[in-house]
Amino acid sequence: MTLEIPANYQRIVLAARPRGPVVEENFRLETVAVPALAEGEVLVRNHYLSLDPYMRGRMSAAKSYASSQALDHTMIGNTVGQVVASRHAGYAVGDYAAGLLGWAEMGVADGAALRKLDVAALPLSVYLGAAGMPGMAAWYGLNHIILPKAGETVVVSAASGAVGSVVGQLAKLRGCRVVGIAGGPEKCAHVVDVLGFDACIDYKAGQLEADLAAATPDGVDGIFENVGGATLEAALARTNAFARIALCGLIGGFNGQEMPIKNSRILLINRLSLRGFIVTEHMDLWPQGLQELAQLVADGKLKYHESVATGLAAAPRAFMGLLQGQNLGKQLVKLI
Ligand SMILES: NC(=O)c1ccc[n+]([C@@H]2O[C@H](COP(=O)([O-])OP(=O)(O)OC[C@H]3O[C@@H](n4cnc5c(N)ncnc54)[C@H](OP(=O)(O)O)[C@@H]3O)[C@@H](O)[C@H]2O)c1
Repeated sequence: MTLEIPANYQRIVLAARPRGPVVEENFRLETVAVPALAEGEVLVRNHYLSLDPYMRGRMSAAKSYASSQALDHTMIGNTVGQVVASRHAGYAVGDYAAGLLGWAEMGVADGAALRKLDVAALPLSVYLGAAGMPGMAAWYGLNHIILPKAGETVVVSAASGAVGSVVGQLAKLRGCRVVGIAGGPEKCAHVVDVLGFDACIDYKAGQLEADLAAATPDGVDGIFENVGGATLEAALARTNAFARIALCGLIGGFNGQEMPIKNSRILLINRLSLRGFIVTEHMDLWPQGLQELAQLVADGKLKYHESVATGLAAAPRAFMGLLQGQNLGKQLVKLI
């Protein structure tokens, strides 16, 4: 198979670090030449770009678990696309692959850094969501930190999002009572009616603690925390003895706000276990987790929803929307 290779492609670079909320001026759209391939490299035309909260951390100069994104370099980002040229024995033109090619229409990667995708099994975009990194974060935090037993109650924040939606459905499959927390009545309706959670609390309705107490009559045994702050505090207040907390994200503090745990005494009183995790530190488990997740999606047991922006130029606005809760499910940018 041969596929057309253009001379140039577009990319978005980090133009300036945010001071507070992300703004369009933090980004710059550029046209660059398609590079020649070295031995072992693959040229991929990206079909979808994933927008993820972690990118906000990389835009900042502050120290985190990963180094900052360099200014004037292509914004970091997970991608799926089709191979248009290859000098790697494992990839032929026409193959589909997931990679970290960034906010760009095309990209070059070492073939060893790509993951070949089966587009007959699942739609390409799902490998960026439920059967990709967010799905793995859900799978790891639930199965390796919360370790839920049938009949236990699990609370999930950012419940309608890419990670939260998978956590709740996996916990339901384990026989748990699952209560989500999400922003707004539409998101909560989706979480209960489409994703099958037992209940969902709209934290914007202003009575998070009382609503969560009513939805967790037997207390809480597992907390999958994506937000921090008020949602974590409300869930902590409902814990049973020996509850487990998987600290996946603190998106509530992404603009530099501190995220103290006000009722930390409860960690001692209820003998709680709290563990933060970074899913990319557990690559040995990815083949097993991704295979299970892909099978569940293919079998219709794991539902997913996507919010899709169109065209690379739409990425900055879509990313700002993600950080303001405008997405439902996985936020993507469709490039082709
Ligand atoms: N540890 C890891 O390895 C790992 C891997 C992947 C993701 N994560 C973390 O998991 C969390 C969810 O990620 P995701 O990809 O699934 O994103 P997502 O939930 O699809 O989208 C982000 C959601 O977070 C909520 N949100 C945004 N800003 C908020 C704020 N200031 N306060 C409260 N809620 C806010 C919004 O939902 P509402 O409208 O419902 O508030 C928004 O829709 C993030 O914290 C992310 O950093 C961690």
